[in-house]
Amino acid sequence: MKITKICCIGAGYVGGPTMAVIAKNNPHIKITIVDINAERIAAWNDDDVSKLPVYEPGLADIVKETRHKNLFFSTDINTAIDESEMIFISVNTPTKTYGKGKGMASDLKHVELCARNIADIAKTDKIVVEKSTLPVRTAQAIKSILENTGNGVTFDILSNPEFLAEGTAIDDLLHPDRILIGGESEEAIDSLASIYASWVPREKILRTNLWSSELSKLTANAFLAQRISSINAISELCEHTEANVNEVAKAIGMDSRIGSKFLKASVGFGGSCFQKDILNLVYVARSYSLNEVANYWEQVIIMNDHQKRRFSDRLIKTLYNTVSGKKIGFLGWAFKKDTNDTRESAAIYVADHLVSEQAYISVYDPKVSAVKIQTDLNYLNTRTEADNLKYVESSNTPYEALKDAHAVAIMTEWDEFKTYDWVRIYKDMKKPAFIFDGRNILDKSSMETIGFEYYSIGQ
Ligand code: NAD
Ligand code: UDX
Repeated sequence: MKITKICCIGAGYVGGPTMAVIAKNNPHIKITIVDINAERIAAWNDDDVSKLPVYEPGLADIVKETRHKNLFFSTDINTAIDESEMIFISVNTPTKTYGKGKGMASDLKHVELCARNIADIAKTDKIVVEKSTLPVRTAQAIKSILENTGNGVTFDILSNPEFLAEGTAIDDLLHPDRILIGGESEEAIDSLASIYASWVPREKILRTNLWSSELSKLTANAFLAQRISSINAISELCEHTEANVNEVAKAIGMDSRIGSKFLKASVGFGGSCFQKDILNLVYVARSYSLNEVANYWEQVIIMNDHQKRRFSDRLIKTLYNTVSGKKIGFLGWAFKKDTNDTRESAAIYVADHLVSEQAYISVYDPKVSAVKIQTDLNYLNTRTEADNLKYVESSNTPYEALKDAHAVAIMTEWDEFKTYDWVRIYKDMKKPAFIFDGRNILDKSSMETIGFEYYSIGQ
């Protein structure tokens, strides 16, 4: 099928950037991104591109170039479904917070709603593309909803998981390691492959069956997260043995079989994907009674939770076993640099723990708003909203956040943190002035020369 119109349901961190890059490289295809969230769509349509709902380096330029030409943002979901030949489902698939599988399984209600919406509206044949990350065999459920409409429309279902990482989304989309397309109809796969082939070399476009494609996405995230938990486990051993985790990571990373990427010890991984996708993998394995498989992967999450807890425990212990009434300055709240996304950020959990010990937290993050910080804390339901407001404030500058603080906790690896006037920060802090570098971004000896007591991960 020659594709001239695409609809993407879900204008989030994946739908927005992915469709913008497809639009840029396929000017002959009209792409409409739709969402039930009217505020989000309005923000995507804002003339001031600094107000786009997703911050990604390079994204605003591509949106400026394509918007109102062949890229459109709309809340009119039905019209966009009706007129397109290909529909991407790119809605959120969070961990279930209720009922069977609570806290483990993927909540597929948004995906099912999309499938039902497509089934209701479609009058012509459609290719439906799973872009959301889904448990293996979800295409079966989508197929069964679409194939039982009795309206004579033929639906082809493809799995086309997205491998972009936030903060580098545009670069990842422009230069992907591979594009994965799983499906049953070669013709439908060809239609999608030719869209990507307008900028991705053909040999990087991989074809598999539906189930391999769905499972490859969960597996890729599980392997990536496993590397972080592995190096974080070693970081704890380093702290007891005078080994240095950066040196260990470098030494093992030079082995070409291991490779050097994703070996940065940290306060723990965050983000909307790793934890949710591993929990999902564990749940799927348990549903087939594969308990050893499930337990094996669950350990990656257990280690990550331990790493976050260990960071705050160490901070409390070092501050003479109490942080009650003390001010702790946080540099960073986002789950990684170059994004405004805070989902599952380690900062949320470390702050929550410290506030339970009656610490006052003052946060500076270059891209995260004060409102977002409060929403993240309130979501945990540990204490009242009023108490979160009392204990956690956000500051407009790093210097304000760290003034009179007993300790600095570096939670995100924003580049600008390295270039601050650390002599000024030291002068303005309570003494002894402590730094807990959860990202190993500062130089230990320079900080000690200034006068700080410096603690990092695995050193
Ligand atoms: P997101 O929450 O940023 O965006 C999802 C959007 O879908 C929201 O704006 C929501 O309003 C909309 N939506 C939900 N139900 C809808 C419906 N029925 N009709 C119309 N719109 C609806 O989520 P995201 O980060 O873009 O992730 C989307 C999917 O992609 C998830 O499955 C995720 O696991 C996967 N993924 C995410 C990333 C990432 O880095 N964020 C990377 C790869 C894959
Ligand atoms: C991840 C996957 O990388 C991406 O392929 C997938 O499509 C979505 O999930 P993302 O969560 O956006 O992407 O960012 P990523 O760079 O993977 O970082 C995830 C978390 O791991 C961050 O909190 C990051 O700080 C942390 N991390 C990453 C480490 O602690 N150490 C590392 O070496 C790498």
